[in-house]
Amino acid sequence: MKDPWHFERRDFTAHVLSLLTQGPVGALSLFGPRRTGKTEFLLKDLAPRAQRRGHRVVYASFWQSPLSPLAVLLHALEASLTGASFGDRIRAAAVALAPRLKLSAPAPGASAAEIDLTALAGQPPSDLLLYLDDLLDRVAGSRKPTLLLLDEVQELAQRPGNGPLVAALRTGLDKRRASIKTIFTGSSREGLAAVFTARQAPFFHFATPIDLPALGDAFVAHILAVFERMSGRTLNGPDMRAAFERLHNNPYFFRLFIEALLCNRDLPPAATLAEVRDRIAVELGFADTWLSLTAVQRAAARALADGARQPFGRPFRRTLAAHLRQPAPTVGRVQAALRRLQRLGIADTHTGAWSLVDPEFAAWVRDQAGRG
Ligand SMILES: Nc1ncnc2c1ncn2[C@@H]1O[C@H](COP(=O)(O)OP(=O)(O)OP(=O)(O)O)[C@@H](O)[C@H]1O
Ligand SMILES: [Mg+2]
Repeated sequence: MKDPWHFERRDFTAHVLSLLTQGPVGALSLFGPRRTGKTEFLLKDLAPRAQRRGHRVVYASFWQSPLSPLAVLLHALEASLTGASFGDRIRAAAVALAPRLKLSAPAPGASAAEIDLTALAGQPPSDLLLYLDDLLDRVAGSRKPTLLLLDEVQELAQRPGNGPLVAALRTGLDKRRASIKTIFTGSSREGLAAVFTARQAPFFHFATPIDLPALGDAFVAHILAVFERMSGRTLNGPDMRAAFERLHNNPYFFRLFIEALLCNRDLPPAATLAEVRDRIAVELGFADTWLSLTAVQRAAARALADGARQPFGRPFRRTLAAHLRQPAPTVGRVQAALRRLQRLGIADTHTGAWSLVDPEFAAWVRDQAGRG
């Protein structure tokens, strides 16, 4: 069933598809911050359009999968050979990844026609890596290239145990650059860099980087039109565009806000917005994150939230001293604090300077400082 709230990214979809199918590009790495619509773009825009044009489409997500990445890949590739529709395959994968996978062809060197996916932890057995290569061969398009959509690939770089799988995948895709076109997505620039641009990266220069465009007025107008159809109420355009901006142009946050307006017709939009921001803070665990930090880490996060950019300079450390009501911490302590924020995925340096990753968390930190 079609989701009426879905806003089609028509131009971007056409652009991505033509990059992959008309030109020399073999693979793209698509970056977009958390919850900005990468998965929705792959599943609701790109996959249907590619399928309509006769491409086979395979989707696999590595995000917090209970199964190993190899199991996720084998499952997705096998499912694409069953002839089930893309929609059915996605639904089946979402309901439950069947722990037992029937192999569609005899695995080289293995006698079993079925494998237990949950048992595939740790080092991947080499016969299954050969089987993966064989599967890639069978899903590859002979007339039109197959589209392989690999969601949240930064997860692959996180465990060194994935090394052999990643190497096998790279070789398998390299051999078939014309018949399998891959899109990798990631929500962390540093995570993607670890896969694609660091010199020791397994997919060094394998994929052309591209950013998911931010949504704008057309998205807001679409959502307001659907709201009007459903509720018979008309929302104020400029107010709603301001709310979208206040929510960092984030479609997920904005849809939470619109749902809240749909449910409470009596609450004014400004109060609803405040309520939704509180809900986001709870849902994303901002307070828990904050409590897990040390005083220096909090002071550093607060300074970054306020826009300070040179954490090792004197002004930054003087700011920390004021927050901490203590003498300025040494450069070494500031460095250690930033590293911890980075490991937790709270701060990064992808813009060339240190900053907080999530603008809503930064806004929450500023609000706390204002209240405290
Ligand atoms: N094109 C769109 N039209 C309508 N709503 C959208 C659109 N894109 C995203 N959204 C809303 O934002 C939510 C988050 O989108 P999605 O899960 O695709 O983001 P993501 O970038 O894959 O996030 P993550 O980094 O968490 O995987 C969706 O569940 C949906 O509510
Ligand atoms: Mg996603």
